[in-house]
Amino acid sequence: MSEGRTEPLKRTAVVTGAASGIGLAIATRLAYDGANVIINDISAEAAEKAAAGIRVNGGTALAIDADVSDAEAVTELVRRAVSEFGGVDIMVNNAGIEGDAALRKIQPDFWDRVIDVNLDGVFNGCRAVAAVMDGSGRIVNIASRAWLGWWGQGAYAASKGGVVSLTRALAVELSSKGITVNCVAPGLIDSPMLRKVPQTVFDNVLRAQPSGRIGTSDDVAHLVRFLVDDRAGAITGQILYCCGGKSLFAMPARRPAASPGS
Ligand SMILES: NC(=O)c1ccc[n+]([C@@H]2O[C@H](COP(=O)([O-])OP(=O)(O)OC[C@H]3O[C@@H](n4cnc5c(N)ncnc54)[C@H](O)[C@@H]3O)[C@@H](O)[C@H]2O)c1
Repeated sequence: MSEGRTEPLKRTAVVTGAASGIGLAIATRLAYDGANVIINDISAEAAEKAAAGIRVNGGTALAIDADVSDAEAVTELVRRAVSEFGGVDIMVNNAGIEGDAALRKIQPDFWDRVIDVNLDGVFNGCRAVAAVMDGSGRIVNIASRAWLGWWGQGAYAASKGGVVSLTRALAVELSSKGITVNCVAPGLIDSPMLRKVPQTVFDNVLRAQPSGRIGTSDDVAHLVRFLVDDRAGAITGQILYCCGGKSLFAMPARRPAASPGS
């Protein structure tokens, strides 16, 4: 009887953008719980360093660099994962870039890159892995609470809103194969990405987070671990927020003095 006990994850997981921040915490958590983990990142050196850190602590991790916005590279990433470990059971599409800019400052190439990485990257991962996953596959896409909208986040919010819609649509489409597709939508999470945000903007955004507490990468990893569990097979097409309650409220009626990307 397994109820009430967390069984080891005897599965293979690919985590994109796993060399730092949230992705590294997810990969570490899955490896710690018994999964074979493929650490993907655009930086080969950073991916290898992260994989070595997991191996040193007894986990199984393999680094494979690829730019998630490149469909062929992502297909090759999944192909290599299958050839090394015999299959892929868990895909965490986490890689993303910050994309804050006020509308007047958004240039087409900036827009394209944010959409290419944050949305096309998730699509490429879902597409490649759905072709090889069996009946108990788990796909988790990392969106953002920002998809609901905020000042200076037109490009970023659109990319993450696309991730939410894609998740819902694929959950319907892949349910007949027994694959679940869910979204985790973090709020402010302490990571290298967040540390690029100017302090005044950070203070204003944190003020809008009811918990008043900045989340940790481990908070997000915990939620992902829950969604990839064998016993989470009935949960699909959902958006699980990890945002200190910020998603519960509408935006302030007026623009704060300091806003992202303004
Ligand atoms: N930190 C936050 O507050 C926060 C909030 C909401 C959502 N998110 C989302 O969580 C995810 C992880 O963010 P993070 O805060 O850990 O950021 P991070 O910058 O610390 O880590 C992102 C990782 O992705 C890698 N990466 C970037 N572009 C890539 C590409 N094209 N292909 C492969 N790898 C690539 C980077 O090299 C880096 O290692 C992102 O999707 C981000 O949008 C973060």
